[in-house]
Amino acid sequence: MRILVTGANGLVGKNIARALSSTPKFEVYATSLKKLQIDGATTFTSNLLNADINHMIDDIKPEILVHCAAISSPDACEVDRFAYHRMNVELTKRFVSACVDYNVHMVFLSTDFIFDGSKGDYTEQDTANPINYYGESKLEAENLILASSVGSTIVRTSLVYGIEPKLSRPNIITRVIDNLSKSKSYKVPTDQIRTPTYAPDLATAIVQICLNKTTGIYNVSGQQKISVADFAVQAAKSFALNHELLFPVNSNELAEAAPRPKDTSLVIDKAKSELGYQPTSIEMALEKIKQTLYS
Ligand SMILES: NC(=O)c1ccc[n+]([C@@H]2O[C@H](COP(=O)([O-])OP(=O)(O)OC[C@H]3O[C@@H](n4cnc5c(N)ncnc54)[C@H](OP(=O)(O)O)[C@@H]3O)[C@@H](O)[C@H]2O)c1
Repeated sequence: MRILVTGANGLVGKNIARALSSTPKFEVYATSLKKLQIDGATTFTSNLLNADINHMIDDIKPEILVHCAAISSPDACEVDRFAYHRMNVELTKRFVSACVDYNVHMVFLSTDFIFDGSKGDYTEQDTANPINYYGESKLEAENLILASSVGSTIVRTSLVYGIEPKLSRPNIITRVIDNLSKSKSYKVPTDQIRTPTYAPDLATAIVQICLNKTTGIYNVSGQQKISVADFAVQAAKSFALNHELLFPVNSNELAEAAPRPKDTSLVIDKAKSELGYQPTSIEMALEKIKQTLYS
């Protein structure tokens, strides 16, 4: 089965493209803005904003599209609304149209930031109410997928972490390592509660979804609720870095462009029962990352 993965240089897309490529049933095409290399996949660069999406789908003829490409930095979205809308909403709309025309199943990567964070423990049925433009853009994209006739899976995930060479964007783990290993202090919010997601776990769930072309909305994250600050401290301790360089602060002391929802923890019961999803514990995931770091 042929699959096209977009955004395959990002932490999420790279793990997904790699996991799909190592599953014998799949023939993987992976694309990104900048040069990429994924063993077992056919890779190519494309600025999707300027690409002829119909031509791309007609040329590759995938059965499934896993659409990860996005502007996924909430602060970048907040300061450049035109760019975020073009990338996160209009591009998704063009992919939806092509997927309908060519009968391609669409797997869309969405986010816990569609929720306002006022209650936590969000299920797939909870009402979305984003408080920043990034969350708004992802919700708008979800809604246009659901309003179309495309066969689709919407996967909402949260604070994805892992390490990869040459990542396009840092994540909480790489930030902790970069700062603390240079003896630099790093401020971490105590009032942002997440269910952090180990990137390979998310990729395993996507493989499962692709194997069965499962439709619907799924929360796919870790299952431990933790503040970003506590998570950073746990990572620093696990990597034997000086955790005292981490400064626990309130979000309003971080002066970030985009407001952050407080508690966006996700309930993953549906993914566990329907996809057989079993997330790695934070402790075990950090241990695996440590082994990669020091191997
Ligand atoms: N990371 C998280 O914690 C998280 C949480 C919830 C949801 N998600 C969702 O998961 C998806 C992937 O997230 P991520 O963190 O892996 O994102 P990321 O690191 O920012 O990667 C985004 C990818 O999109 C590509 N891209 C950006 N602009 C492009 C363009 N004009 N044309 C073609 N490709 C373009 C980038 O290419 P280059 O790298 O080659 O420039 C990169 O491969 C996103 O949809 C995001 O909303 C992520």
